[in-house]
Parts: sequence; structure tokens; C-alpha cells
Amino acid sequence: RLKGYGKKGPHACHSGHVHVIGAGVMGGDIAAWCALKGLTVTLQDQDRGRIAAAQGRASALFARKKRDPREARAAADRLLPDPKGDGIRRADLVIEAITEDADIKRRLYAQIEPLLKPGAILATNTSSLSLETLRAGLQAPQRLIGLHFFNPVARMPLVEVVETAEMDPGVKAAAYAFVGQIDKLPLPVQSTPGFLVNAVLAPYMLEAMRCVDEGIKPETIDAAMLAFGMPMGPIELIDTVGLDIARDAGRQLSGAASMPACLETRLARKQLGRKSGQGFYPWKNDKPVKQG
Ligand code: NAI
Repeated sequence: RLKGYGKKGPHACHSGHVHVIGAGVMGGDIAAWCALKGLTVTLQDQDRGRIAAAQGRASALFARKKRDPREARAAADRLLPDPKGDGIRRADLVIEAITEDADIKRRLYAQIEPLLKPGAILATNTSSLSLETLRAGLQAPQRLIGLHFFNPVARMPLVEVVETAEMDPGVKAAAYAFVGQIDKLPLPVQSTPGFLVNAVLAPYMLEAMRCVDEGIKPETIDAAMLAFGMPMGPIELIDTVGLDIARDAGRQLSGAASMPACLETRLARKQLGRKSGQGFYPWKNDKPVKQG
């Protein structure tokens, strides 16, 4: 628990209705989590298949062991598929979790801003774009805030709250209240590359791969860091995040054009980690298969 940032925000519950745009890996799971925590959630995506897949994952989350079936049903009832985005007009908070591309995000904001309720907050889950870049073009740029969730949403307690000096203090307060309301831990960060967590993680992961290039087995590196006290070894973490994402983040945050050879050779073979079934480790039943 981080000192000074309690689970409850400074203001009481603010958001009754959350609208999530983008039902991919992150948006779908953010929507499910918010519904589980009692909020009404509308979930929009340009691809109806992604909404259906997200609902499937949400059902599995809601039905987890020890959960009262009535609670699971109520959560499922609160998660509403909304391919056309009708929920935007009613939402207290709109969370954007679409493709990581500034132009695509800005185009979406221009379309939806006139539809937002007065006082509604617009949040982005971007992991690498600056808020200054994203809010250019908004009529009310002070209502954009970053809410950076981590993958997998249901297991990761931290949410980075990305602030800028120009931000409306009411927006900030409501964002902290929302993060507390869904039982996550808000961490205030500035709009700088990698925010805080990824800025620290990127060199750690790159250094672990440089050890692989020097001939140390992935299993040895992971075992060492587990013994040190990390909850997961860095190489397994790279497999979990995805080797393509690790490369993009590594390039952006280190400024180096060339990445470790062990990463490039696997990417050339389309070995992306857990999501493709093979990365530094082969994956079976969602678990890495380690030697010795
Ligand atoms: P994804 O590719 O799984 O999902 C993006 C979804 O947005 C797709 O389903 C796509 O159909 C939809 N979409 C794109 N443009 C749209 C539009 N104009 N209107 C409606 N739907 C649209 O991407 P993912 O990984 O969920 O990432 C989403 C955001 O979350 C990005 O900003 C990314 O940087 C951020 N993020 C990703 C993390 C990860 O581990 N994948 C972790 C933390 C943040």
C-alpha cells in the first residue's frame, strides 16, 4: 500500500455510469471489472465480435469460484453491449481504450465530445501517448485525464492517474474517487514517457534479455529474480506482455533502435509470447513450460 494514497478518493462516489470505448484486451476487461464493482457499464467497439469476446471473458470473471451466483448475474446485467455508443450521452465517465494511435484517438474525441454530458470526464488508457498530444483539438481539454490500467486488469491493483497542470481539479478528484470506488489503488503520475511503472520496468526487462544474449538461460534469470522476491521473473513477464509490445516499449523508452538479438530472432519467427503459444518459453494451458 502506497503511503498517502488511500483506496478511497477525497470525494464520495462520483461515477454511476461508465462508458468504455474499445472492447479489446484492456477495454473489455476494464468494463467487466467496473460492472463487477457495481457500476452500470456500456461497452462500445467498432467490431461487434470484440464486444462478444469481452462479454465471454467477463462471464468467466463473474463466475469465479466463491462468488455468489446472484452477484455474478447482477454484474452481467450491469454490463451492456453498446456497439453504436448510445451510452456516451448518459455516462459520467467515458474511458477510451482503443488502438494506440494519436490520430485515431483524436478523431474519436472530436466525434464524441459534443455528445458528452456536462461535467462528464473523458479518460484515456493510453500507455505511451502524452495527454498534451491527445487533448489538442478538444473543446474542453481540461476534462481529459489518463487512467492507465495494467494487464490483467482483474489482478493488477494499481491504476496510474496521469495528471497535467492544466487539468480541472474537479476532474482529478472525481478520477481518484472512481479508482477508489472500483477497489484499485490510484498512483498519481505526470504525463512523461512510460509514466512511472513502465519507465522502471522497461530497462529491467531489456537488461534481462541482454543476459539471455550473453548465454544465460531464461529459466536461470527468472529463478534468480523470483528468489530475490519478485512475483514473476522478467522473461516470463515479457512473454506475458507480448514480445511485440515489449519491443515497442523498449524502443520508445530506451531510445535505442536495436533491441536484444534474442528478442528480434523470436519476433522474426512470429513468437509473440503467451498470446501466440510460444515466446521465450512454450506456453501450455496459459502457463509457461520451463526446463529443469
Ligand atoms: P486492442 O487492439 O486489444 O483493442 C483495441 C480495440 O479498439 C479493438 O477492439 C478495436 O476494434 C477498437 N477500436 C479501434 N478504433 C475504434 C474506434 N474508433 N471506435 C471504437 N472502437 C475502436 O488494444 P489494447 O491492447 O486493449 O489497447 C487499448 C489501449 O490500452 C491502448 O491505448 C494501449 O496503449 C492501452 N494499454 C494496453 C495494455 C496492454 O497490455 N495491452 C496495457 C495498458 C494500456
